[in-house]
Amino acid sequence: MPWNPDQYQLFQAARSAPFEDVLALISVRENMRVVDLGCGTGELTAKLADKLPNSRVLGLDNSAQMLERAQQYACPGLDFEMADIGDSLAGEWDLIFSHAALHWIADHRSLFPQLLAKVAPGGQIAVQMPSNFNHIAQSLVVDIALEDSFRTALNGFVRYSPVLPIDDYAEMLFTAGFSNINVFEKIYPQVLENSDAVVEFTKGTVLVPYLERLGDQTDSFMETYRQRLRQHMPGSPVFYRFRRIIFAASRTQ
Ligand SMILES: C[S@@+](CC[C@H](N)C(=O)[O-])C[C@H]1O[C@@H](n2cnc3c(N)ncnc32)[C@H](O)[C@@H]1O
Repeated sequence: MPWNPDQYQLFQAARSAPFEDVLALISVRENMRVVDLGCGTGELTAKLADKLPNSRVLGLDNSAQMLERAQQYACPGLDFEMADIGDSLAGEWDLIFSHAALHWIADHRSLFPQLLAKVAPGGQIAVQMPSNFNHIAQSLVVDIALEDSFRTALNGFVRYSPVLPIDDYAEMLFTAGFSNINVFEKIYPQVLENSDAVVEFTKGTVLVPYLERLGDQTDSFMETYRQRLRQHMPGSPVFYRFRRIIFAASRTQ
């Protein structure tokens, strides 16, 4: 997917709160082998590396645009590579970390057991994923994509969130032999100028796979989306609540 690092970075401040929350769950040890799945622009991977003394941190992403931006943070102990998270993850890790990325990967019932198997004994997993798919700003995208006027341009494409109820992640962690299981869902409040600002937020994330496919219908789709969202989120400012799942656990020695 053609991610736009500039569009994504516009809302980086709003993304730092969940990052700090997931970071707080990590038990810091020396010399950890760490992988950041879906590292994006690398800014948060670099912050993660700063917190982990003498660790080797590898950021993986499948977007050339995002990785190009990430390379500025590369240094001894911090590398970035192109890889698809959906492919089997190589190696064994003391920390598998992922921030706002695994909701892009299908079939979590198969993905997570595979990832958990790559955590070394005594190692940890720490994950944050949006679970905001029931907000009107996201469900409207699916509704509009299914309308006749856009279904053809999109060739029938719609994207539903693969994110499961939080209970399921807790169960998968236990089944895979993890302890210190900490799983929760949290609302991150965002107060934005108006509903058009919400559209700017979704443009950097949820809308990415649609914008890739819409071709000459892009402007029409965006205008329809803007108009409808104004009806649902009128006035200024608007409250855009953003729900996210955070979890961490460690593999029993
Ligand atoms: C919303 S961004 C998050 C970036 C970074 N972790 C952060 O929190 O700032 C999601 C990232 O996941 C990456 N991504 C999505 N699907 C992927 C896949 N199948 N394999 C690797 N990376 C993927 C995207 O390229 C994008 O950089």
